Amino acid sequence: MTTLELSGRTALVTGAAQGLGAAIAEGLHARGAQVALLDHDARANGETAARLGDRALAITADLADLDRLDDACAEAVRGLGPVDILVNNAAMAPMRGLWDIDPAEWDAVFAVNVRAAFFLTRALAEPMRSRGFGRIVNIASLSGQQARPTGAHYGVSKAALLAMTRSFAAELAADGVTVNAVAPGMIETPMVHTIGAEKQAELAAQIPVGRIAHPAEIAGLVAYLSTDDAGFITGATYDINGGVFMR
Ligand SMILES: NC(=O)c1ccc[n+]([C@@H]2O[C@H](COP(=O)([O-])OP(=O)(O)OC[C@H]3O[C@@H](n4cnc5c(N)ncnc54)[C@H](O)[C@@H]3O)[C@@H](O)[C@H]2O)c1
Repeated sequence: MTTLELSGRTALVTGAAQGLGAAIAEGLHARGAQVALLDHDARANGETAARLGDRALAITADLADLDRLDDACAEAVRGLGPVDILVNNAAMAPMRGLWDIDPAEWDAVFAVNVRAAFFLTRALAEPMRSRGFGRIVNIASLSGQQARPTGAHYGVSKAALLAMTRSFAAELAADGVTVNAVAPGMIETPMVHTIGAEKQAELAAQIPVGRIAHPAEIAGLVAYLSTDDAGFITGATYDINGGVFMR
């Protein structure tokens, strides 16, 4: 296989109906992969899969429903064959102050952002390791690296995802399965539109690069991490934030 070539590979992308997930699904598909798009928004997900055309399969599943995860994986395998690439992208990001977060919302955020990623990874990593090849990419966030006054549960869930990335990376390193995290800053997606144009412009002005990211800029990195060429990269966190956080 040549650089950035993914034909013959099968990917499963969560939260693929819109925003970054749709861009990641598109990026993998454009490089030749077959792509299972998983989302709880059946209509939007179906439209995104239809836009990709051949080699794309829409799977409707609520990631908060633990009992549905194994079935969803089986659906992907039945439709497209064994999954080589898993992208844990879906997330809930309610931006609430510390004292406004109730236990139900805390649990809901963790169920989607962390628990689903853990159990999907476990379900799909086992067959990957038997085949001696796998690529797992977890979409974390700058919010898991830097504190913000709102969305503490979101930030803590993303920090947990970074730790989880390293745990799985260590466990799977010897079997040809890499596990990496991508930690983006602000990206032009529907999630960001919820904060309003004025606030968005104010935040963009604080980014050294002077703008927020295009989803395709994150998707390109995810595609690279999914290739054969990236086999020596594991347990890494890629900061992709326009220079907001450097280390
Ligand atoms: N947009 C940003 O500025 C930004 C910044 C840093 C990190 N991220 C991360 O990028 C990823 C994608 O974000 P986005 O901006 O595209 O978000 P988005 O809200 O635009 O899209 C999220 C997708 O996930 C799906 N989803 C949510 N809950 C689900 C559930 N329970 N079951 C199945 N599907 C579910 C939604 O239907 C949607 O299609 C997330 O992990 C987010 O934390 C985004």
